[in-house]
Amino acid sequence: MEQKLRESEAYYKAIFEYSGTAIAILDEEGSIAMANSPCESMFGVTTDEVCGKKSWAEFVAEDQREIVKAKYRERMIGSNRLPSCYEVPIVTRDSSIRHVIMNVVSIQQTGKTVVSFTDITDRKQDHEELQKAYRQLQEMQAQLVHSARLAVVGQLASGVAHEIRNPLAIIIQSVDYLQSLLSSEPEVEAVQMIREASWRADKIVKDLLRLSGQSTFTLTKSDIRPLVEEVLVLISGQLKCTKIKIVTQYEEDLPDVRIDVNQMKQALINMVMNSIDAIMPLGEGTIMITAERNGQEKVRLVIADTGTGISDDLLDRIFDPFFTTKRKEKSVGLGLSTAQHIIERHNGRIRAEHNQGKGLRLVVDLPAVRN
Ligand SMILES: Nc1ncnc2c1ncn2[C@@H]1O[C@H](COP(=O)(O)OP(=O)(O)OP(=O)(O)O)[C@@H](O)[C@H]1O
Ligand SMILES: [Mg+2]
Repeated sequence: MEQKLRESEAYYKAIFEYSGTAIAILDEEGSIAMANSPCESMFGVTTDEVCGKKSWAEFVAEDQREIVKAKYRERMIGSNRLPSCYEVPIVTRDSSIRHVIMNVVSIQQTGKTVVSFTDITDRKQDHEELQKAYRQLQEMQAQLVHSARLAVVGQLASGVAHEIRNPLAIIIQSVDYLQSLLSSEPEVEAVQMIREASWRADKIVKDLLRLSGQSTFTLTKSDIRPLVEEVLVLISGQLKCTKIKIVTQYEEDLPDVRIDVNQMKQALINMVMNSIDAIMPLGEGTIMITAERNGQEKVRLVIADTGTGISDDLLDRIFDPFFTTKRKEKSVGLGLSTAQHIIERHNGRIRAEHNQGKGLRLVVDLPAVRN
């Protein structure tokens, strides 16, 4: 009989020790009564150090400790509402966090509990990395779709635009001449309407050509700050008689960027003009322009306004060619797609987000020139 008992004990001890799973037996208070050797490698402590001395809750990460203790107490008073399996962050001796799945089983009538631990830290990390890679893939796919759409616009633009520009130039010249000959009101007004419509058509053609990358592109090493100032002078006429304030904030030690000055100016004008349009309906507001370093490699330009902003569902569409929410006769919907195209041609990035408080923020990152 005794022999049989000894054999059975050895048998269960072998299962306990060599199952490959970290297992601990807890007493009524939650102190560790027994722990097998896989627990040593998981928690970084020897079984002698913990057995009979430590509450297992000491290994739980501090912010989760009380929750886990409460669950344990509830289980001890016989609650069967709790799942037997749950994830817990564990702090090991070297203070690193491991994520483990705990499987808790009460041993009937003894008040003791068997807990087994499965370390899922690496699995969790792999999963997070996979998710990150998936997000990057989705972003790249969106970018590809965007590029494909631009390519179609580009093909259309370069084909049609050149054909239209020549007759348009003749119309504009002739209208200017006609206007100088006329003196009576209704005729002058009619010719003025033709003039404005021709200018608008010319603007669309120019925007399309810029968008399709047909315009010239010459890069020079430049400081972005004077360029912003130049743009502000250019649009100052639009701000007269308005209550729109422009505030600029530049980091002192800002690296240069390599840009096509005229194109970048155009991109900035398009962005700031949109901010003005968005503030106008409110009567007053501020446009904040900041230029700062973004890490070692980038210069970040932010144009933030306190205008009307845009709803969540339209935020994704504002860079789409021909997307506009403005009165059609005034706007084409090419301002931001042109700006985006210009920035991407500089190997930069642009994104739009809601401004804290109200309005819209455009965040532009341009590659910095290494000194
Ligand atoms: N700062 C802003 N605040 C709120 N909405 C904006 C802002 N900038 C752009 N938008 C939205 O994005 C749309 C697209 O802007 P985009 O500049 O491409 O075209 P547009 O201003 O309508 O016309 P245009 O071709 O004359 O620039 C705008 O019609 C507007 O709805
Ligand atoms: Mg615009």
